[in-house]
Amino acid sequence: APKAIIAPSILSADFAELGAACSRTIGQGADWLHVDIMDGHFVPNLTFGPPVVAKIRSHVAPPAEHHGKGTFDCHMMIAEPKKWVKEFKAAGCDLYCFHYEAAVDSSDAESPEATSAAKTSPRALIRYIHDQGMLAGIAVKPGTRVDVLYDVLDSDDAAERPDMVLVMTVEPGFGGQKFMASELPKVEALRKRYPELNIEVDGGLGPGTIDQAADAGANVIVAGSAVFGAKDPAGVIALLREAVDK
Ligand code: DX5
Ligand code: ZN
Repeated sequence: APKAIIAPSILSADFAELGAACSRTIGQGADWLHVDIMDGHFVPNLTFGPPVVAKIRSHVAPPAEHHGKGTFDCHMMIAEPKKWVKEFKAAGCDLYCFHYEAAVDSSDAESPEATSAAKTSPRALIRYIHDQGMLAGIAVKPGTRVDVLYDVLDSDDAAERPDMVLVMTVEPGFGGQKFMASELPKVEALRKRYPELNIEVDGGLGPGTIDQAADAGANVIVAGSAVFGAKDPAGVIALLREAVDK
């Protein structure tokens, strides 16, 4: 399996000193920063948009290569992911991870997220994100089966294949929620099928839950409250890394 990538979620940082918090976290050993973008529609919460991402970019050196240290892993909990691709690229986003539920065609029209005319297929959206020069990720909420992702993951065309899959281990919207071990079979299924895939888990990860996630096959670890709420964030980041790379 690929190596550990530790991505603290800045949702749990002190927003009044966000730039300093971001550069400090990288100094404490984080690989990526996980940037939670919420639009008050796809999820019942609001965070921030491109101007804030652009400001924090000036506090964190951009990655030297794809997937490198300082990668801004933007988790797009928004109803219209296609609409914001160019703005987030311009702001300094490196990896644009959209939700499958927000990108499916009208087949899922009962879902409130899936009503707008701005829908596009996951394949087309991944291609578009790649065309803009970013890595592309695709996320699934707890209620979504993971096998819906096999179509894009099995694409013969690398331009339409995601660089990462995010398996949510809480309902998206808020930090500090309880880890849902019920989601780990999705990680196991993905790891079995795709030995080299970057598989990210997000929600409730910390010293008490990391072993289960790592054993299931996750290698990209998001942790918000567990890192920003710790007395020794560097120690927590190291512990998470060792659990994955052991
Ligand atoms: C939740 C976000 C998460 C959140 C994780 O919607 O996607 O990234 O910040 O926070 P913790 O690690 O505290 O569960
Ligand atoms: Zn997130």
